[in-house]
Amino acid sequence: MDQELRQAAKDLLIRYGGDEFPQLFRSARGTIVVDDEGREILDFTSGQMCATVGHNHPAIVAAIKESCDTAVHLFSGMIPEPVAKLAKKLADWLPAPLRRSLFVNTGSESNEAALRLAKLVTGGYEVVALGGSWHGTTGGSAAASFASDRRGYGPKVPGVHVVPEPNAYRCPIEHCRDACDMTCLRFGLKTFDMASDGAPAAVLVEPIISSGGIIVPPKGYFQELRRACDARGMVLIFDEAQTAFGRLGDRFAATKLNVVPDIMTVSKTLGGGIPLASTITSDALEETAHEAGFTFYTSHISDPLPAAAGLAVLETVESEGLIARAAEMGAYLRSGLEALQQRFEVIGDIRGEGLLLGVELVKDRESRVPFHALGAITTARCYELGLSMNIRRRPERGAVWRIAPPLTVSTDEIDRALEILDQALRDGLDQVSRAKDQGV
Ligand SMILES: Cc1ncc(COP(=O)(O)O)c(C=O)c1O
Repeated sequence: MDQELRQAAKDLLIRYGGDEFPQLFRSARGTIVVDDEGREILDFTSGQMCATVGHNHPAIVAAIKESCDTAVHLFSGMIPEPVAKLAKKLADWLPAPLRRSLFVNTGSESNEAALRLAKLVTGGYEVVALGGSWHGTTGGSAAASFASDRRGYGPKVPGVHVVPEPNAYRCPIEHCRDACDMTCLRFGLKTFDMASDGAPAAVLVEPIISSGGIIVPPKGYFQELRRACDARGMVLIFDEAQTAFGRLGDRFAATKLNVVPDIMTVSKTLGGGIPLASTITSDALEETAHEAGFTFYTSHISDPLPAAAGLAVLETVESEGLIARAAEMGAYLRSGLEALQQRFEVIGDIRGEGLLLGVELVKDRESRVPFHALGAITTARCYELGLSMNIRRRPERGAVWRIAPPLTVSTDEIDRALEILDQALRDGLDQVSRAKDQGV
């Protein structure tokens, strides 16, 4: 461990929010990350939700190396061979009529491109998004995000309306308990219609609201949303940053739900850790946008290196059968979590699909008061015991662990993670009760 280097990280980097670790990190492979003391930690966040095929998968490393021997970057108007190959592979994966891709770098950027397309083809500018959503940190994507603090950054892009999220466990309109009857959606759309300037453009949604606490909308929700978009001439955009390419035990959320959006954005899970994202649409929408003069010309559009990595990711998901594996390992992990729930009253709810799971911690199951203190203590304790996990803990929302290991995770790794969670919950509850006894 190099103390000077740790100090440099502390002194010289702008803090950008989220968890901070005193350690630096050295390497990552599969489900394991290694810190600067050589300690191995189970990574149940898949990096920043990107490493579905595991960290530093040999196929991705080989693809990157090959790009270094051929081309890393080109003039944006020149389409590199790996980009054409990736577009072809992606078209095979996608539900019709989605088949045309624009390859960019980040999720935020893919949503900016989607919103630009939607605005251009509809002539409108109003965007509906869901409470608790996270679509990025750039102008348009941040304006349509409601999971994090919107305060302090000045006016947002005008025209965004929020519809309360379908959270059956913690209904935002205090109407349902445990089963969402979609009043939130109908009420939200009514208020949108009331407030609309008559220039609707798009509805932008995550099929599972992830950063907002792993909220799975009820059956029929997206069919109803699809009809609502069609009735208003709005473009339906699915942000599949976290749900595309297998994590849910299906190719996409769209294929699992049987609802095809007009535009799909994919990012995190496409590059396997390399910045790569795509905005995807149909021939018809692309043609209309092109005729209207659509541009999204950037320095790194259609770059060859990320495309080669993306192609390797899709080939690996196919060759290693990771979609079926996500379903199988997801069921295994979920049953382990349910066994924990039997023993810990504080586990109020377990939800999610495949290997995108959420565990909500509450003071008791009747009141459902969020147990934020326990969430913070147990997440830190998990880390000490060798498990990196993410907790969503906005004060106004629940304390929700997001559990999303790489799809390559083994049953041994899941068993180890469950043991750590068990221990962390016991230690955390002890600590909370000791603090209470001491009147802290
Ligand atoms: C659903 C979703 N969309 C978009 C983004 C933004 O992606 P990026 O951070 O790559 O810009 C995120 C990031 O967490 C996300 O979870």
